[in-house]
Amino acid sequence: MQSDIRCSRFYAEPSKQRADVAMEARAERNQNQNQNQNQNPGHSIVIIGAGMIGREHMRVATLLGRAKVYGLFDIHSSSMDKAEEAFRSYSDSPLVRYDSLEAACSDSATDVIFICTPNFTHFEVLRTAITSGKAIFLEKPMATSLADAAEIIEMVSAYRAVIQIGMQYRYKAQYTDAFHEVYAKGTVGEVKTISMSEYRPPFLDKVEQWNKFNSNSGGTLVEKCCHYFDLINLMANSRPKSVVASGGQAVNFLNFEQNGVRSDVDDHGFVIVEYENGIRTNFTLNMFCPDLVEELVVCGEKGRLVATESSSFVAGISSKAAIKIEVQAATKTQPNISADITYPSIVEESGHQGATYFEHEALMDQLDGQETDSATPLQGLWAMVVASAAQESISSGTVINIKQFIDDNQLTEKLDL
Ligand SMILES: NC(=O)c1ccc[n+]([C@@H]2O[C@H](COP(=O)([O-])OP(=O)(O)OC[C@H]3O[C@@H](n4cnc5c(N)ncnc54)[C@H](O)[C@@H]3O)[C@@H](O)[C@H]2O)c1
Repeated sequence: MQSDIRCSRFYAEPSKQRADVAMEARAERNQNQNQNQNQNPGHSIVIIGAGMIGREHMRVATLLGRAKVYGLFDIHSSSMDKAEEAFRSYSDSPLVRYDSLEAACSDSATDVIFICTPNFTHFEVLRTAITSGKAIFLEKPMATSLADAAEIIEMVSAYRAVIQIGMQYRYKAQYTDAFHEVYAKGTVGEVKTISMSEYRPPFLDKVEQWNKFNSNSGGTLVEKCCHYFDLINLMANSRPKSVVASGGQAVNFLNFEQNGVRSDVDDHGFVIVEYENGIRTNFTLNMFCPDLVEELVVCGEKGRLVATESSSFVAGISSKAAIKIEVQAATKTQPNISADITYPSIVEESGHQGATYFEHEALMDQLDGQETDSATPLQGLWAMVVASAAQESISSGTVINIKQFIDDNQLTEKLDL
C-alpha cells in the first residue's frame, strides 16, 4: 500500500475550472434525465447516522445527481424523522428506513455505504459495513485512537472496493486555488513555511452531545483539526518529523456535565510541525470566537500566498473566501493577485462552502474507475498521527519525535516506513 501523503493529481485545476466542468456535467445530466424520466442516476447510497453531516450528504448526493439516496439507518428514530423531513423538501423519491445496521449494510439495492455516526462508533460500524463488500465513505476522523486507526488500515488494506475518508476541506475553493498556485504554477517558489489557523465558535450541539468528551471524539485536535493537519500535510508534501504543542480548555463547556462526567475538550491550542523536507509549519486553534475565520499562509523563496475564509454560523449570512498572492519583484512572472473566490451559489450553499459537492464528485469518479484526489485511509491516518502527536505533546509537555511516536504506536508497518 502507498504510504504517500500527497495526491498526484491534486493540483491540476483551479477552482473556477473545476466548477465550470462540474456545472456543465450537471446540466448535461439534468437534460438527459428530463428527456428520459426513468433514467437511473447510477449509484445507490445508504446513510448510517442521519445527523447533521448525514443530512448534508443526502442533500449533496441528490444535488449532484450521480447517485440516489436509497435508505438510512440511525439508532435514534428522531434523527431519521428529521433527515426524512429534510429529504422531502427537495426530493419525492422513496426512502427506506432500516431497523438494524446489518440490514442497512446488506441490502443489495445499494452499492455505497456512508458512515456518518459519531467518531467513537466508526470502528465498529465500519467492521459491519466492510462485510458487505460495497464502497464505503467513512467520515473523519477515521477513529478516536491510533490503535483503532491502525486496525482500520489493516482491515481496509485487502478490501477490494473503494474506501474514501471524509476530509473535504481540500475542495474548498480557496485551498484548491492555493494548491494549484503553489504546485501547478510554482508561484511562491520552493515552499519554506506554512501557517494555518482556525478561529471559530464553540463545538455545536450534537445528538447526545457526544462531541463534548474526548473519549467520544478522540480529542479536539483529532476531531476538528484533522482537516487542517490534512491540508498542512498535503501542502508540505512530505512526512512530519516532529510536533510540539500547547493547548487547553479555557472558556467552553467548563460547567458542562453529563452523567456526572465533566466536559474535557480543549478549546484552543498552538501546534508546530516540522517536516522531513525542512518545511516548518504551525497551526493555531481558537474556539471561543463569534464567527469562523480560517487562514492559510504559504511562504516560499519567491513570495507569499494567503488563502482566507470568513463565515458565520448564523443562518442567512453568506461566507466569503479570498486568495492573495504577493511575489518578490525580482522573480515576478505575474502581477500580485488579490481576489474573492467562490463556487456557484448552488454548490457553495450545499454544505461546507461547496467542498462536500466536490468530495461527492470525487467519490462517484472513483466508483466509475477514475483516479481522483479524494482522501485515502492512509492520508486519514497521517492527519491523525499529527493531531495525536500534538495532543500527546500538550499532555506531556515534550517535543514528539514522529518516527519514535509511530514506532511506539505500532504504526511503522501500517505506514509502510
Ligand atoms: N467532514 C466534515 O466536515 C464533518 C462535519 C461534521 C461532522 N463530521 C463527522 O461526521 C460524524 C457525525 O457527526 P454529526 O455532526 O453528523 O453528528 P450528529 O450528532 O449530528 O449525528 C450523528 C448521528 O449518528 C447517530 N448514531 C450514533 N451512533 C450510531 C450507531 N451506532 N449507528 C447508527 N447511528 C448512530 C446519532 O443518533 C445521530 O443521529 C462525526 O464523525 C463527525 O466528526 C464531519
